[in-house]
Amino acid sequence: MTQHFQHDILVIGSGAAGLTLALKLADRFRVALLCKNSATGGSTYYAQGGVAGVIDSTDTVDAHVSDTLNAGAGLCDNDAVRFTIGQSKACIDWLIEQGVPFTEDSANSNGSYHLTKEGGHSHRRIIHAADATGRAISTTLIKRVKEHSNIDLFEHRVAIDLITREKLDLTGSGCVGAYVLNRHNDSVELFQARFVAIASGGASKSYLYTSNPDGASGDGIAMAWRAGCRVANMEFNQFHPTCLYHPQAKSFLISEALRGEGALLKLPSGERFMDDFDSRGELAPRDIVARAIDHEMKRLGCDHLYLDISHKPDDFILEHFPTIHKRCLKFGIDITQQAIPVVPAAHYTCGGVMTDLRGRTDVAQLYAIGETAFTGFHGANRLASNSLLECLVFADAAAKDINDNFERVAEPPKAPDWDESQVTDSDEDVIISHNWDELRRFMWDYVGIVRTDKRLQRAEHRIALLKREIAEYYSNYKVSNDLLELRNLICVADLIIRSAMARKESRGLHYTLDYPNTAKQAKNTILTPPNWQALPADSN
Ligand code: FAD
Ligand code: SIN
Repeated sequence: MTQHFQHDILVIGSGAAGLTLALKLADRFRVALLCKNSATGGSTYYAQGGVAGVIDSTDTVDAHVSDTLNAGAGLCDNDAVRFTIGQSKACIDWLIEQGVPFTEDSANSNGSYHLTKEGGHSHRRIIHAADATGRAISTTLIKRVKEHSNIDLFEHRVAIDLITREKLDLTGSGCVGAYVLNRHNDSVELFQARFVAIASGGASKSYLYTSNPDGASGDGIAMAWRAGCRVANMEFNQFHPTCLYHPQAKSFLISEALRGEGALLKLPSGERFMDDFDSRGELAPRDIVARAIDHEMKRLGCDHLYLDISHKPDDFILEHFPTIHKRCLKFGIDITQQAIPVVPAAHYTCGGVMTDLRGRTDVAQLYAIGETAFTGFHGANRLASNSLLECLVFADAAAKDINDNFERVAEPPKAPDWDESQVTDSDEDVIISHNWDELRRFMWDYVGIVRTDKRLQRAEHRIALLKREIAEYYSNYKVSNDLLELRNLICVADLIIRSAMARKESRGLHYTLDYPNTAKQAKNTILTPPNWQALPADSN
């Protein structure tokens, strides 16, 4: 029999977005908080640079808005940008109240915080905890969650699919829960709630090289798509310019804050090159820096370039970048003395599940927040350190909306048990591992930093084959985490390829040799699933 859990709110994901939402609802409601690994398993824990916000008295909301719009290359939604940045101070103050130990400004004795700078920002406005901001936010908020008697934290639980009234053939519409794989005992459980929020992070694991931890397989985007939500701007996958290049250094980011504090990008000859590409040099927005590095690597036929901060005093480097210093030293690179070998890697999913400014999706009682969502804030290229900010602001907005509407929504009827009567244990796991590798490699080669129609067509052809193979596999065999992730990656890669093929221009993170110019009119790429239904106004 399927184990059944009933809560007021179900939150899928324990990154900055999910933790914040759970904490903001828990004084009034019973919350189930799920994550597929341990609670620190998402990208949040690994965030380095910090959280962007208008904190310094010489900075303004207008300046942060203008920098965000510039980076977004004409595609940001003005209302979303102004709304998010307008809330930045309050959301950062909330983190401070929770006890996040942000780095103080050692030059001031008035308890103010040190603010760093990153590409595309016209001011120092990034609050941080040395170079391990995500770890500080994650561990502080998880501690709060564990202390709260109204939050049940379920680790090692993988949401498989959302349950909607439409799927159950019930009257009305809306989300009523999710089927969830318990990785401790391989059973499928049923979680139900009046409101469900997807906070399951991004999809950068679709690419062979990524800064993201395992698990960034776009599960929330794929689940929402299957449940009938529109998805937008999936072609805009951000490649971070500087990940450590070393055979044993899986997924390790070298924060943009190094460039903010003066680090220089160099060719193997030791020559600088960024000024040839943009007058802002190393601090140009990420799309420009990543493309410049890609261009120089291809021109010179080398597999990495260098980032050099060794001209700064040793104690400055050790104070600001202790984690990066330690990690590089483990691989024999002393960043106080040597340049760091770096390559670009897939880093952030700018597109996602379409929401309004309250985090509401196309399906009633279903919210999407954090990297999983598309709110219109990032446009065609996210400004550095604007992601954690968006997680906090939209978790807060969704919490307010759920608070306002809770009484209007009835307790959901019990959904049927998970049916495993038609499936057997998998006998060929090699199909899963082979297809995982194949997908991530062709996404890197054909749908990466520089695209062409021909490359996209090749990717389209391959994804169609994988889709058929895995659909058949899914209907015949019991689910496992690897199978679920592969199924979701295939869905999300398909959405990325379709979106990239639809954009006949180059803009922000989408660059194609076949259409190198930027169109006069900026338009979002909106994909609509076959089961999409327009929601009546205010139906939550
Ligand atoms: P995540 O933190 O990714 O959490 C996702 C959660 O969902 C996890 O708990 C995961 O287990 C869970 N989950 C996923 N699928 C399922 C499923 N099927 N069932 C159950 N649970 C599931 N942004 C900044 O603004 N500033 C920075 O300095 C910064 N540095 C970064 C450094 C690195 C190395 C990386 C990878 C990203 C960085 N980013 C930064 C981006 C930012 O960290 C992320 O966009 C943000 O943390 C995403 O938060 P989230 O809550 O949406 O998701
Ligand atoms: C970094 O520290 O470079 C990452 C910042 C971000 O992704 O916003």
